[in-house]
Amino acid sequence: MTVIGTGYLGATHAACMAELGFEVLGVDTNAQRIEELSRGELPFHEPDLPDLLRKHVASGKLRFTTSIQEAAEFGDVHFIAVGTPQRAGENAADMQYVDAAIVSLAGAIRKDALIVGKSTVPVGSSRRLKGLIREVSHPSANIDFAWNPEFLREGFAVQDTLRPDRLVVGTDSTSADQKLRQVYADALSRKTPFISTDFETAELVKVAANAFLATKISFINAFSEVVEVVGGDIRTLADAIGHDARIGRRFLNAGVGFGGGCLPKDIRALQARVSELGLDHTMQFLNEVDEINLRRRERVVHLVTEELGVLSGKSIAILGSAFKPNSDDVRDSPALDIAAKLFNSGADVRIYDPKANKNAAIRFPRLTYCDSLQEVMEDADIGVLLTEWDEFRMMKPTDFNLKVRQKNIVDGRNVLNPQEWRDAGWRFSALGHRPETL
Ligand code: UDX
Repeated sequence: MTVIGTGYLGATHAACMAELGFEVLGVDTNAQRIEELSRGELPFHEPDLPDLLRKHVASGKLRFTTSIQEAAEFGDVHFIAVGTPQRAGENAADMQYVDAAIVSLAGAIRKDALIVGKSTVPVGSSRRLKGLIREVSHPSANIDFAWNPEFLREGFAVQDTLRPDRLVVGTDSTSADQKLRQVYADALSRKTPFISTDFETAELVKVAANAFLATKISFINAFSEVVEVVGGDIRTLADAIGHDARIGRRFLNAGVGFGGGCLPKDIRALQARVSELGLDHTMQFLNEVDEINLRRRERVVHLVTEELGVLSGKSIAILGSAFKPNSDDVRDSPALDIAAKLFNSGADVRIYDPKANKNAAIRFPRLTYCDSLQEVMEDADIGVLLTEWDEFRMMKPTDFNLKVRQKNIVDGRNVLNPQEWRDAGWRFSALGHRPETL
């Protein structure tokens, strides 16, 4: 099989398919990335993936190329895993990479083959792409087509791919469905639910899942806003409603909210697509979900300003720049956004992230990057925890008592124990807690 596009999704899918025993060819237009992957080097941080990549580059089961021609000759099943980023200046998804990959691949195939879309696309895309394939394919090619959305989480990408909680396949072809059941035989043998459906449902399953998760996060964060005024404890509130199995505790962690390469862009693209379909009001609530999420970032800036007064000349230690722990991804990261906002307000902003310093520095080179937690807290007027890495969850106030300029900490992810910090003489604030009076 081939995997076209070797970003997070594609590289993970390719390595995992090799692990399942398939001969896999990964394809990308980015020659540097292909060179790195061919040497067994992964250009991003993802637990377990480097080992799997090296193992199968060495075994010969996994190869990489920039040639779509080679892919067309090699593959029986082709997975499309290229990105669908937010279009510049718009909410809609940019489909140019998916279209280009499918057109060039389908045009080069001269045999029986199955093309399977995995990228997250606006509903209606698969049917359009199926038409495109028909238009460009050679008479000697017999191309089947299916849409098979991917639900992997960064940080758990290998686990989510090898042991998915469900498989969804949208197609109007029985043979495509059958072939994908063979591809996923390992998961099926473990009774993983396999949902065979039409193109539109398959496309919608993905965006509906991400919209629901984003809504859940903004839901609890809206209650944070209430608790910050009236008093109370957002963590206890989340625990208590989470015990109701119909609600569930997961994705109710209040804090600086969601970021990353998926949730923000997917809820925006869904709104844009649904408006295009003439349903202007249907997904309007997602606008609110987005706004609540972005307001959390402003709230941290406000909190820090309340604590420090004028920001100019103050040293702020930012703990975390990745959009979530166990990732070096800073795309739409709440942490980095807040750091930049504080910097723009005149503060001396120093950041430490266990893995994402390099990517953060590419995005915001003017911030100061530190190599350790101890270093970033040195002479800080305030510490602001924005990504809940274990290293930060485990830290103790006594680790820094003699280091900092002021004992003041803001917990933007609700992972520290307020009492522990207060008992050690620190001012402690968190999102979803009424601020202490000065
Ligand atoms: C998400 C979906 O989970 C995944 O199924 C889909 O395929 C791609 O998008 P990912 O972007 O890797 O995966 O991150 P996820 O773990 O979902 O977290 C998204 C954001 O929500 C992070 O910024 C995280 O910090 C935030 N979050 C998560 C919260 O703020 N509170 C929570 O309770 C959970």
